[in-house]
Amino acid sequence: MSDNEPEHLSAQEIVDLSLRHTLYDWQAQDGLKPIPVDSARGAEFFTTDGKRYLDFNSQLMGVNVGHGDKRVVDAIARQAEKLAYISPFMAHEPRALLGKKLAEILPGDIDKVFFTLGGSEANETAIKIAKLVTGRQKILARYRSYHGATSGTITLTGDPRRWPNEPGIPGVVHVLDPYHGPQREVDSAEENLRYLRETIELEGPATIAAFILESVTGTNGVLVPPDGYMQGVRELCTKHGILMICDEVMAGFGRTGEWFAIDHWKVVPDIITMAKGLTAAYVQLGAVGMRRGVADQFKDKVFYGGLTYNSHTLACAAALAAIQVYEEDKLLENARRIGAVMKSLMADLASRHPSVGAARSIGLFGLFELVRDKAKKTPLAPFNGTSDEMAALGKFFRQEGLYTFVRWNTFFTNPPLCITEAELREAFGIIDRGLEITDRAVS
Ligand SMILES: Cc1ncc(COP(=O)(O)O)c(C=O)c1O
Repeated sequence: MSDNEPEHLSAQEIVDLSLRHTLYDWQAQDGLKPIPVDSARGAEFFTTDGKRYLDFNSQLMGVNVGHGDKRVVDAIARQAEKLAYISPFMAHEPRALLGKKLAEILPGDIDKVFFTLGGSEANETAIKIAKLVTGRQKILARYRSYHGATSGTITLTGDPRRWPNEPGIPGVVHVLDPYHGPQREVDSAEENLRYLRETIELEGPATIAAFILESVTGTNGVLVPPDGYMQGVRELCTKHGILMICDEVMAGFGRTGEWFAIDHWKVVPDIITMAKGLTAAYVQLGAVGMRRGVADQFKDKVFYGGLTYNSHTLACAAALAAIQVYEEDKLLENARRIGAVMKSLMADLASRHPSVGAARSIGLFGLFELVRDKAKKTPLAPFNGTSDEMAALGKFFRQEGLYTFVRWNTFFTNPPLCITEAELREAFGIIDRGLEITDRAVS
């Protein structure tokens, strides 16, 4: 081996050293078995010892253009050669071009962005902007949500990841979603808006800076809002001078078949946050988009925010290349077309497997909810918990080379938007066999 060639570790050494010296997210560390990944292409990735996995979750719902796309990789390499970093007080071509491109694809008159490193910082900055602009301190958020892991965004987060991080930042008020779990009906838009209206009145509308919500809720269940809900939220926010913040960190960039999920309802939020699919996760980048009226507030007022890596050259170059891939390869159309095939495959499994209590999707954003009892829809794992059956299903997927996210009584179907129909059917073949395990639990 020459002096500058990197040392090559075995799969076991990679796992052992990673576990010994690095901390893994959201889990107790004992008993973890991370997959030692070596390389990835399209909708597949390969382990150091040569096992192939179909990536049915785009990793963390982010690698939307697929793995290893040379157009994105080359753009990053070219930019690294030319200018790998420059302070955020400078101007540079990738920053200029990406700002212009985002202004074209973002909803309505949102035409200014602030760049961050990821989704949490984008949401953190969004609520900071809302407070600075309105002079108000409270933020409304929903229970079935995830907005990030920093102290502000974990407080916004409604799901149980918030609990150990409480009390968190002051002034966050949570409201219920239209969805109430598999055993209850989803509220109509009117029903939920009536409750939201009352909450706003009781909290004091003039004390609320913003309402932050995922346009289509991600980890908490791929929850598509009932028609009329987003329009109603928009009206309520406008009436009370509350800024509407749509968190599109997971649902944005083609995942649902539109650039942004909120486009399905033709609603323009005041602020929109994004990350993941913005660079297809090749390089860390998040952004906060704001309408002209919001941005103009900082013409003569100081914007009290900043980051060393704001508008990072490599990340801006990666995002520009990724957006070009979405366009060149018609990935939004693909998400709609393959998404329709996925919906029918999901419906077929739901009709044949008694353990499927619900199967929902929009574009290539999908989720199965598993139950013990088809009539009562008792979840196959408790809220915020797991069960032997869900653990066995997760183990089966891994053994069969299907990588996806198994959480509580649910699992996800979120492949890269470049997935072929043949790969999709291959994945559904594995899911079909896996559901035989969970069917055995149904009484
Ligand atoms: C909807 C949503 N918002 C925010 C975040 C946080 O993003 P990040 O992990 O890039 O900080 C996530 C991450 O999964 C997310 O799904």
